[in-house]
Amino acid sequence: MGRFPEGFLWGASTAAYQVEGDNERSAFAAWERSEGWEPCGRAADSWRLWPEDLRCLRALNLGAYRFSVEWSRVAPAPGVYDDAVLARYAKMAEDCVRAGVRPIVCLHHFSEPAWLFGEVAEGWRSARVLEHFLPFVERTVRALGPAVREWLTFNEPMVALLAGYAMGRFPPGRRRWLGLSSLFERELLPNIARAHREARALIARVSPLARVGLAQNVADVEPATDSPQDAEAARVFDRFMHTDLLARVRGELDFIGVNYYTRVLVAKARVPFFPLGVVPGYAELESAMGTGLFRLVGGRRGSRPRSDMGWEIAPEGLGRVVGRLWKDFRLPLLVTENGIADASGVARKDYIHRHLESLLGAIRDGAKVEGYLHWSLMDNYEWGSYGPKFGLYRVDRESFVRTLAPGAEYYARVARSNSL
Ligand code: BGC
Repeated sequence: MGRFPEGFLWGASTAAYQVEGDNERSAFAAWERSEGWEPCGRAADSWRLWPEDLRCLRALNLGAYRFSVEWSRVAPAPGVYDDAVLARYAKMAEDCVRAGVRPIVCLHHFSEPAWLFGEVAEGWRSARVLEHFLPFVERTVRALGPAVREWLTFNEPMVALLAGYAMGRFPPGRRRWLGLSSLFERELLPNIARAHREARALIARVSPLARVGLAQNVADVEPATDSPQDAEAARVFDRFMHTDLLARVRGELDFIGVNYYTRVLVAKARVPFFPLGVVPGYAELESAMGTGLFRLVGGRRGSRPRSDMGWEIAPEGLGRVVGRLWKDFRLPLLVTENGIADASGVARKDYIHRHLESLLGAIRDGAKVEGYLHWSLMDNYEWGSYGPKFGLYRVDRESFVRTLAPGAEYYARVARSNSL
């Protein structure tokens, strides 16, 4: 019920580590072994099957593909760059352009080379990471530059940093609860902001017409109850998780990438020393703490239907977060991820429809939204497991053959007609 603006981009997203396969030099490869995760292995075998992935995009009438470049593939050792790999990524971008698909390229999607932590043990706590990150960016941009108009410096830096430097869930596996806000404010965020700023300057030098953004994971934050304490907790969390970093780089963003999946209820912590004094009602936090303890400290989850990830399905939140970001930043927005883990396939069509309805509402209210990229083009490695099925295409784990998933044809119709 309604048309999207003329030229609205319809596309799909993936990330190198999750689809390419055989990224043995990534810190995640060793991490999988030490943590006992299901190995990523050949992933969706996309390094080999790129022509097939491009055909899949075209078959769904999609005009944009967001993919990432794997740092550990481009730079297999400190200071060493693989020109054949760079040429191969450049070909992907050129193939896209020839096929009428706009390539949107992300430079950092969680995965980093294992050697990085041998060179800089503190990781992003040290500005010395930039001595390695920026030369990688420069090589990549020089190789792909002519074909790429939109770059993302980072995917969900807050998620990556929390998982890697506070929760011990991603490499480098640090755990820290006390002093979390000063760790972010004084060390991690300044380094990420500087990396973004300097990467953007490099991109501008090589490719003056390019536009640069970053993709932020933005949940629709709601106070867990109507108490003033929970309202304040929700504000604190929203600022920390979503807007602090964007505010630091607002002058250096040509657009904001929005990854939206769910809403989160936030409560004031009922115990002292809880990070930021708030308890965000994430499924992951509840399962890490156990439901009993999670509720004891004040944690609350909503009661809507959930995806296979245990995330509440909250379509109206997409329009709300887009509306808020537009109001706060007045920058063009691109939905860089939105999707559902749905192995049965029964929920995807409705999920897409209702989220797009909500997005269209925000656009009608004035938000400038340039496009929508579904997560994900195909089933892939969900950081520890092949269980969750986010793909518009199912991927057979033996043959790697792609077949349309339920709901994908509906999305292809929306993309073709530019309307709901
Ligand atoms: C990440 C993806 C991930 C997806 C689903 C996003 O947080 O960017 O890498 O697969 O959500 O969990």
